[in-house]
Amino acid sequence: MTIHKSPEFLKGLQTRVSHAILTDPAPTKEELEQCYYAAFRAPDHAYLRPWRFIEVRGDQRIVLGEAMAAAMQADDPDVAEAALAKAKKGPLRAPLVIIVYAHIQEHAKVPAWEQVVATGCAAHNLVSAAYAQGLGAMWRSGHVTESNSLLAALGLRETDKVVGFLYLGTPANDDKPIQALAIDDFVSEFNPK
Ligand SMILES: Cc1cc2nc3c(=O)[nH]c(=O)nc-3n(C[C@H](O)[C@H](O)[C@H](O)COP(=O)(O)O)c2cc1C
Repeated sequence: MTIHKSPEFLKGLQTRVSHAILTDPAPTKEELEQCYYAAFRAPDHAYLRPWRFIEVRGDQRIVLGEAMAAAMQADDPDVAEAALAKAKKGPLRAPLVIIVYAHIQEHAKVPAWEQVVATGCAAHNLVSAAYAQGLGAMWRSGHVTESNSLLAALGLRETDKVVGFLYLGTPANDDKPIQALAIDDFVSEFNPK
């Protein structure tokens, strides 16, 4: 039996932080490959590999921002101009944005929600691998993640599920302090009534 112990890995899991302010340079091809190999090790019932990643960089970020704003307007014609302007600028907050979505497959034993969770785990592995390489990352969503209009603009199916937009780059802000949480606030003994 092989036993794996990695105190450094454990420390990384316990100390990872998001970086809201991200600048150039974007992750290199090699750094991104490391992120994807980490993502591919997410737990995955029946090995359906539901995760998909779309990289958006350069001026394509402007196209994405416009698609987000158009989706917001299609879903709510009364949406405020300020919200549209904010959505348009959103993807410019980092040199690289990765759209992560679950490519949901029909399966007798693996419902859609499990595939969405597996894709969320892949997204988390990806941002953790970015952190482990000294990159900055932030997982964002917004209501467009629920928008069929955005799915159509991205050329995705209505059964696909966007789990978020991963913003990646070089951290431009200091790490914020990590809030210490008490285990007893979240964990209890099994005690059925
Ligand atoms: C599915 C998902 C969606 C999120 N969407 C947003 C978002 O739209 N805006 C935001 O500020 N944080 C969002 N977050 C939270 C940030 O990624 C981040 O975890 C949070 O700011 C706390 O920072 P920390 O990761 O350093 O603890 C989201 C997290 C998840 C898991």
